[in-house]
Amino acid sequence: MCGIMGYIGNRPATPVLLDGLRRLEYRGYDSAGVAVLNGGTIEVRKVAGKLARLAELLERAPVDGVVGIGHTRWATHGEPSDGNAHPHADCTGRVVVIHNGIIENFLELKDELQGRGHRFRSDTDTEVLAHLIEEAFHGDLAKAVAQAVAKARGAYALVVLSADAPDEIVAVRMISPLIVGLGQDETLLASDIPALLPYTRDVVIIEDGEMAVITRAGVALSRIGGDPVVREPTRITWDAAAAEKGGYEHFMLKEIHEQPRALQETLMARLPSDREIALDGVAIAPDAARALTKVWLVACGTAYHAGLVGRILLERLAQIPAEADLGSEFRYREPIVGRHALAVAISQSGETADTIAAAREAQVRGARLLAVANVVGSTLAREAADVLYTRAGPEIAVCSTKAYLTQLVALAMLAMHLGHARGVLGRARVAGLIRSLRALPAHAQAALELEPEVVRLAERLHHVEDVFFIGRGLDYPVAMEGSLKLKEISYVHSEALAGGELKHGTLALVTPGVVVVALATQPELVDKTVSNIQQVRARGAEVIGLGTADTAAALGPHVDTLFTVPATDPLLAPVLSVIPLQLFAYHVARLRGNDVDQPRNLAKSVTVE
Ligand code: M6R
Repeated sequence: MCGIMGYIGNRPATPVLLDGLRRLEYRGYDSAGVAVLNGGTIEVRKVAGKLARLAELLERAPVDGVVGIGHTRWATHGEPSDGNAHPHADCTGRVVVIHNGIIENFLELKDELQGRGHRFRSDTDTEVLAHLIEEAFHGDLAKAVAQAVAKARGAYALVVLSADAPDEIVAVRMISPLIVGLGQDETLLASDIPALLPYTRDVVIIEDGEMAVITRAGVALSRIGGDPVVREPTRITWDAAAAEKGGYEHFMLKEIHEQPRALQETLMARLPSDREIALDGVAIAPDAARALTKVWLVACGTAYHAGLVGRILLERLAQIPAEADLGSEFRYREPIVGRHALAVAISQSGETADTIAAAREAQVRGARLLAVANVVGSTLAREAADVLYTRAGPEIAVCSTKAYLTQLVALAMLAMHLGHARGVLGRARVAGLIRSLRALPAHAQAALELEPEVVRLAERLHHVEDVFFIGRGLDYPVAMEGSLKLKEISYVHSEALAGGELKHGTLALVTPGVVVVALATQPELVDKTVSNIQQVRARGAEVIGLGTADTAAALGPHVDTLFTVPATDPLLAPVLSVIPLQLFAYHVARLRGNDVDQPRNLAKSVTVE
């Protein structure tokens, strides 16, 4: 998820590009760059680090011109560095591109292009597009871009500038967002509306599969390489702050709603067929996978809850003994790790001090370190032998949502990959799981549609003082995550329990007025959870049930309110069942008037032990 900006008009392009990128910096911030048409050539300035570094560079080495493109990067392929920052040029420097998204087949394309003599200067997937356009360009830039993207597979928003087509900028969209802003004798492009608002409130949203050719006079839209498209501009009435949140009241809600896309991007290119799991960045050879004697998952907070799910997936799918440990505790137990162990450190930021300390301890004790991280080039990612990036995009709200969902699918793919390599996961099972994984973005979208019902529940219950979450098997870590969400932002006291533990103590706290959220997504455990529900109902608790379409019939008669997420493979149910719990926590916190995105006493990245 990167920030894209383009400008063609009559004023100096650089300040417009910088201003737009500043408003998009929340989308990504590991490097930034601009390319501006100056006379007959294109000048590029780009640098690793925050946008302020690009601004400094432009002060030292300014570029003049009234047509340009700019980018803030959130790395997916290639570490954050000056060379990997966008824009990327072709061999001649007369075509430059910026890109948001992932080109799935870039390695193949790069091999072919290098074979034909193209010289690459970066490790990015993006650069292949510049060289493909270079080959296809014979005076018609739009045609060349259409021919180039016809060869690329993946999700992208691509913006192209050529010194040989100085009065236009060409853009295409396939999944990743792109919006045109229509000004007076000037036209802009951006990956989100806030960047456009200082210049215009009239925007045209480019849809998937469309191309936009912008000139000073406006925009010509068409299907990529096909028929023209006519679309009336939309007038934006939000203020800039609301626009940055995509019209949502808080970043947390925006990020909850981004989850289908985050899942899609995390799965993308990693399930190339019904038989294969291709994990870029993970180089555990089949022999090493077979030799593994134990997996240690270390993490904190929400990422630890993902680790608890991962532990079960690794045992079930890869048949490796696995243990999940808190990053803050792991090193104090003097763990017996050994040479054939794999440590999996899970972290959105890749900078959590306790997780880093646990990962280092595991390495010292002989384990190979694999990081499941969201921030490319973060400390954990740099220190690990293998990195599985989650591709959730920047998560701004302190309360983690989309990072958690993507951690779950990353761990599921890792468990399948190891199970396959160890020869313990049959082909039919792999194919079934791959189909279920591919369906998850659509199922997550369906789970989000429960929001109006969740809002009604939150409106009724937001004054509640005690909420217990219960679940068994894979539902237990999800209960823990639901409870943490509620505590963290709504400040409602809450606890999560493995259903069977109620009778060993906590049942004493269950009195009339207490709310119990009971998760039952695992068909073989529904009856047991129903017994726990009966225990708490007999003591006056109100029970909110959460099941899948496969378990709802058995659960429904025993609860006061039922939420049903789509049916999926039970091992993947945690990806869906957490969504109504995130929404519940969010709406309770909002109704209590709390600062949802920055809850009291907490920070996004905890870099102290
Ligand atoms: O960046 P990390 O994933 O390592 O962060 C770990 C925890 O600090 C984090 O998940 C925290 O628990 C969240 N605020 C929960 O919403």
